[in-house]
Amino acid sequence: MSAERTKIAVFGAGYVGLVTGACFAELGHEVVVRDILADRIEALGRGEVPIYEPGLDELLERNRERLSFTTEVARAIEGTEVVYVAVGTPPTYSGDADLSAVWTVIDELPRVQKRIVVVMKSTVPVGTGEKVRHRLDERGMENVGYVSNPEFTAEGTAVRDFLHPDRIVVGAFDDADGELVERLHAGIDAPVVRADVASAEMTKLAANAALMTRISFINEIANVCEATGADVVKVAEGIGLDRRIGPSFLRAGIGFGGSCFPKDSLALKQLAANSGYHFQLLNAVIEVNELQKRRVIGKLSEQLDRLRGTTVALLGLAFKPDTDDTREAPALVLAGRLLAEGANVRIWDPIARVDGLPGVTQVESVAGALAGADAAVLVTEWPELREIDWGALRSTMRRPVFVDGRNMLDPAEMRALGYAYDAIGRAAG
Ligand code: UGA
Repeated sequence: MSAERTKIAVFGAGYVGLVTGACFAELGHEVVVRDILADRIEALGRGEVPIYEPGLDELLERNRERLSFTTEVARAIEGTEVVYVAVGTPPTYSGDADLSAVWTVIDELPRVQKRIVVVMKSTVPVGTGEKVRHRLDERGMENVGYVSNPEFTAEGTAVRDFLHPDRIVVGAFDDADGELVERLHAGIDAPVVRADVASAEMTKLAANAALMTRISFINEIANVCEATGADVVKVAEGIGLDRRIGPSFLRAGIGFGGSCFPKDSLALKQLAANSGYHFQLLNAVIEVNELQKRRVIGKLSEQLDRLRGTTVALLGLAFKPDTDDTREAPALVLAGRLLAEGANVRIWDPIARVDGLPGVTQVESVAGALAGADAAVLVTEWPELREIDWGALRSTMRRPVFVDGRNMLDPAEMRALGYAYDAIGRAAG
């Protein structure tokens, strides 16, 4: 496939849109990123990157001459062959995906003389492509093609995941449109799965559901380990070496969060329910995850007798390391529950900021979080937590209760330092 230069418009300057735009520019295409947020577009024009995503700054900087930013649809569309849709699809009250931003993009598309192809990068319910096709046809825009090209990038590794993916999925109504989208990826060494639009849409939802199922599975194994004296870290190692199972996504912890899994699990659950199917396994995956976040409260109550009046340090706020994203972060659920129980909550995080959480104090160092605290919970496995001199900090705590919610630290070492250390799915010492 030739790496011909194509003009691409990306609608949406969030995590997905910016990574998509920057990576396509890196592959040699000319990219214009459009967003309705004028502040964001102006900042990007000045070379400022509004989100924290490792490697993104460098990529945007290196490809400056092939990247531009605008708020205007007409400017974005001018001379463009491909329009990527990378806008947010948050959950509605009913759990369905809110597609209003997607529809705004589709309805704002002007009539064009030359064929253009709309490519859906946002995560949408199965059937969305069919509906968009219908809407375009209704407006007499048969010369606008439609392709589903879901993203499988994870926050924190999005640039690497985009440029070195396990696979690229392209679902098209028209073969030539699919080929065009496949060609845009020339230079990336990965298998391409060509499919119909509905199957491509379902592949995205099914991939996330499979990953979430593994997490809830290992968390339940962890809970059984706790009840029976086994160690889930050893068990995960033991089953992960089975090639049929594999080692990824078998880290037990305090549950998954983020902008994707919680929202996508609800969206798939509702999609199934709306089609008359009760997706039992997915319901269980969601429920296990909710309970998992709350189990830490049980562990703390056991050690502290009562939570009222205690001070609990939460180490980590972001839903995972290497991101400032706090959407659906387990730390927020923990903080909320602890406050409701009458505890004082301090949060340390190297990047993420506590915003609009009354009653929670943000501290700038791990030492500041632990000083005088009755308990600490390791919530996010930030690498800097490995470098902490835990021995020195122990004596600064009022009570040395430590719950390692990510099984990051060595239980024997922490106990030897005098901590009342507990983890997830590892027999209490
Ligand atoms: C996830 C998927 O991994 C991506 O493939 C997908 O493209 C993306 O959602 C999306 O739909 O946009 P992301 O949410 O950024 O990516 O982060 P993950 O690394 O998958 O972690 C999600 C959550 O699962 C985190 O809270 C993490 O702590 C938790 N997790 C992950 C575990 O508890 N255990 C594990 O073994 C792995």
